[in-house]
Amino acid sequence: MWKEYINAVSVEQVLSLLAEKKGQARILAGGTDLVLEMRQGLHEGIQTIIDISRVGELSKITLEDDLIHLGAGVTHNQCLADPIIRTHALPLALACWEIGAPQIRNTGTIAGNLVTASPANDTIVPLFALDASLVVRSRNGERRIPLKDFYTGVRRHVLEADELATEIVFRKMEPNQQGVYLKLGLRKAQAISLVNMAGVVTLENGRVVKATITLGAVAPTIIHAEKAEQYLEGKELSDEHIQKASQLAREAAHPIDDIRGSAAYRQQITQVLVRRGLSQIASGEAAARLPDVPVLLSTETAEQELPETAGEPLAPGVKPIVTRINGVEFTFEDGHGNTLLHLLRDQAGLMGSKVGCEEGECGACTVYLDGKAVMSCLIPAPRAHFAEITTIEGLGDEGHLHPVQEAFIEQGAVQCGYCTPGFIMSAAKLLEEIPDPSQTQIKTAISGNLCRCTGYYKIVRAIEEASKKEGA
Ligand SMILES: Cc1cc2nc3c(=O)[nH]c(=O)nc-3n(C[C@H](O)[C@H](O)[C@H](O)COP(=O)(O)OP(=O)(O)OC[C@H]3O[C@@H](n4cnc5c(N)ncnc54)[C@H](O)[C@@H]3O)c2cc1C
Ligand code: FES
Ligand code: FES
Repeated sequence: MWKEYINAVSVEQVLSLLAEKKGQARILAGGTDLVLEMRQGLHEGIQTIIDISRVGELSKITLEDDLIHLGAGVTHNQCLADPIIRTHALPLALACWEIGAPQIRNTGTIAGNLVTASPANDTIVPLFALDASLVVRSRNGERRIPLKDFYTGVRRHVLEADELATEIVFRKMEPNQQGVYLKLGLRKAQAISLVNMAGVVTLENGRVVKATITLGAVAPTIIHAEKAEQYLEGKELSDEHIQKASQLAREAAHPIDDIRGSAAYRQQITQVLVRRGLSQIASGEAAARLPDVPVLLSTETAEQELPETAGEPLAPGVKPIVTRINGVEFTFEDGHGNTLLHLLRDQAGLMGSKVGCEEGECGACTVYLDGKAVMSCLIPAPRAHFAEITTIEGLGDEGHLHPVQEAFIEQGAVQCGYCTPGFIMSAAKLLEEIPDPSQTQIKTAISGNLCRCTGYYKIVRAIEEASKKEGA
């Protein structure tokens, strides 16, 4: 898919590479969009991938003088766990909770979501409502682009080929502001938005001082429901006013028909979501949808920064991939141009991680990358350079099965077994993160895993039983 791969170590290195490669290089953050697109043959002519996922300076969330700075390497799961985002940017936290499944949230970034620029993407809508800007840098300098000026159409924006988005900046919400984010997808996890909405309302003495209502997947770019916003100003958030505002929001929506839903259905849903969102703001219930302890499937403890020497181009015959898999060091002279899933199976001979959809949808390929559960079919093989990988083969302990493996056997949670390694990896990571999970937490943990034969009851029961075992 690519000729050379560079695990960048600093922003300065990224900017030099982008300038030098003149449009033949592409930034990769989590790769959850880019790897799929490259596999589909898009981005022909891209020779070099510049991986920014381990540039430590891009992975920070800070609050300075009422401004929240979100580094371009910040993942959805990082946002979900971060007190600054949870407290001061609730609509963004709620949107991150709606993205894909835990494995996708462990690698996918907010900046990647913004740059992919699909009007259905989840985090653009709340960041529009929060009036965020994107800070971008190149060797020629820096510019700060308000998101409302960033998009020029479906999947189109004003970013130049030599520019790196370095951070997203927006004002924290004030105590008199309430926010919400709602999405309708065709199922609860792993579903693109059919329609989504975000709202930020400033209230004083029970009346609306300012209302911001943004809508996704109803136009080529994210839009404001301007008439609804104006209508609410000066009014109480009563049922009657909410009803009228949601009708006005419906009129602002100009969606298309597609395979997921008709335009008429999307318009109807716009009205429903805006009514529900404003009602949740009025009743103060919006925050209740964000779990106190979100399941992350991550037990990453230290920052995974690379040593300076690791930032050299990796390619067959140029530089091998050096990695640790299940505690053993491997050096791979080949396999650079494929995914981690194929590196594990074709180069290391570890066949436990299964090839399912190869689109991040089924979880059969789940492995741990530096302590986080990820879909290995979306991770470029050279990302494993200087990283720590755990596969199903490395889960047990010196000839003993892992308690989750034992419980799957005892509960009959396996039929053909194709999905089983992925489920077990997700479940074992959950128990490492939350030793005594609720059934809701178990279901969230396996929301990125699909089984076509066993059905989910026995799998959930096996995970519950495993949590009672010693050493789980
Ligand atoms: C199974 C599955 C489920 C998904 N579910 C959802 C969902 O529910 N909601 C949703 O919104 N999305 C979803 N996605 C899409 C995807 O996960 C998100 O868009 C994600 O946030 C992209 O981030 P990334 O870091 O993986 O981006 P990448 O794939 O690394 O990059 C995406 C694009 O942004 C560019 N880019 C990334 N970072 C920078 C930067 N700092 N500067 C300049 N350019 C940059 C890349 O060159 C590329 O063009 C899903 C994807 C999959 C595979
Ligand atoms: S999610 Fe990787 S093979 Fe399906
Ligand atoms: S046991 Fe066959 S797909 Fe799950």
